[in-house]
Amino acid sequence: MTFPLGGDLPVNRVGYGAMRLCAQPGNFGRFPDWEAGKRLLRRAVELGVNFIDTAHAYGPSCNEELIGEALTPYPAGLVIATKGGVEKTAPDKVFPDGRPETIRRRCEESLRLLRVQRIDLYQLHRPDPNVPFADSVGAIAELRLEGKVRHVGLSNVTVAQIEEARGIVPIASVQNRYNLLERADDPAVDYCAVHGIAYLPWGPLAAKPFAPDAPLARTHGALAWLLRRSPNIIVIPGTTSLAHLEENVRAGRLMLSDEEFAAISANNA
Ligand SMILES: NC(=O)c1ccc[n+]([C@@H]2O[C@H](COP(=O)([O-])OP(=O)(O)OC[C@H]3O[C@@H](n4cnc5c(N)ncnc54)[C@H](OP(=O)(O)O)[C@@H]3O)[C@@H](O)[C@H]2O)c1
Repeated sequence: MTFPLGGDLPVNRVGYGAMRLCAQPGNFGRFPDWEAGKRLLRRAVELGVNFIDTAHAYGPSCNEELIGEALTPYPAGLVIATKGGVEKTAPDKVFPDGRPETIRRRCEESLRLLRVQRIDLYQLHRPDPNVPFADSVGAIAELRLEGKVRHVGLSNVTVAQIEEARGIVPIASVQNRYNLLERADDPAVDYCAVHGIAYLPWGPLAAKPFAPDAPLARTHGALAWLLRRSPNIIVIPGTTSLAHLEENVRAGRLMLSDEEFAAISANNA
C-alpha cells in the first residue's frame, strides 16, 4: 500500500513520526537514550517504513540530528519530511515564526542536520498569525525553486489556506490533527484526496502532544481505520518502543472490510 507523494515519491502508507525521540516533557532536548533512538529508527526502515516525519521544533534540532546520524547514508527510496515555522525555547514555550527569513534559516539548518542536499518534503509547521500566510508559503516556494526542497507541505491549516497555498506552489501534503476520535478535519481529508495531496494525520492514536498519553486501546484498529478512511492518508504514529513500532507497522496489513469500517466509525462517532 503506497501513495505517490508529490506524484513521484512512492511512500508506504505506514510511516513513522519521530517527534517522541526527544527528551520529555514537551519533546524538548536530546532523547536520553540516543543509541536506542538510532536503533529504533533503523528498525523502522528495516520493517519497510520509508516515510519519516520530523521538524526543526522537535528538540529543537536534535530530532533531525538523530535521524541524520542514524540513517545516513540514506537507503534509496527513504523519504524524510521536516518542517519549519515553529520555534520552541522551553518545553512549554512553543510559538509560530513564519517570517521568510526564519523559514530560510531553519531550512538551511535542517539540510545540514539531516545531511541532505535537498529536503524531500518541507512543511510549513503552522501559519503565523503575525505574518501573511502567502509570505511564509512563498518562502518555501523559493527554497523549492533553489533546489533545496523537493516538495512542499502544510500543517495545521484550513481548506481555505490549502487553496491559497496551491495558488503559490504545488502542495504535496497536509498534516493536521485527525484520528478516529477527532474527525473535525473530514473536509480537508476529502479535499486533499480529490487533489492528489497526501494527508498525514498527526496524533493518529489520539495522543495529546504535550501530555502523558492514553493512546487508543485498540491501536491496530485506529491505524487501520485511518488507512481505510481515504487512500491519500499516510499514518505517522510516534513511538519510542520497538514492540509498538512493530505493532503499528503490522496495522498496515490489516484491511478492514466495509462492514468493519462502518462499525468502527459508528461506535466511535
Ligand atoms: N504537525 C504538528 O503540529 C504535529 C503535532 C504533533 C505530532 N506531529 C507528528 O505526528 C506524529 C505522531 O503524533 P504523536 O506522537 O503526538 O501521537 P500518536 O502517534 O497518536 O501517539 C503516540 C503515543 O502513543 C503511544 N503508542 C504508539 N504506538 C503504540 C502502540 N502500538 N500501543 C500503545 N501505545 C502506542 C506512544 O507511546 P510509546 O512510546 O510508549 O509507544 C506515544 O505516547 C509525531 O511523531 C509527529 O511526527 C505533528
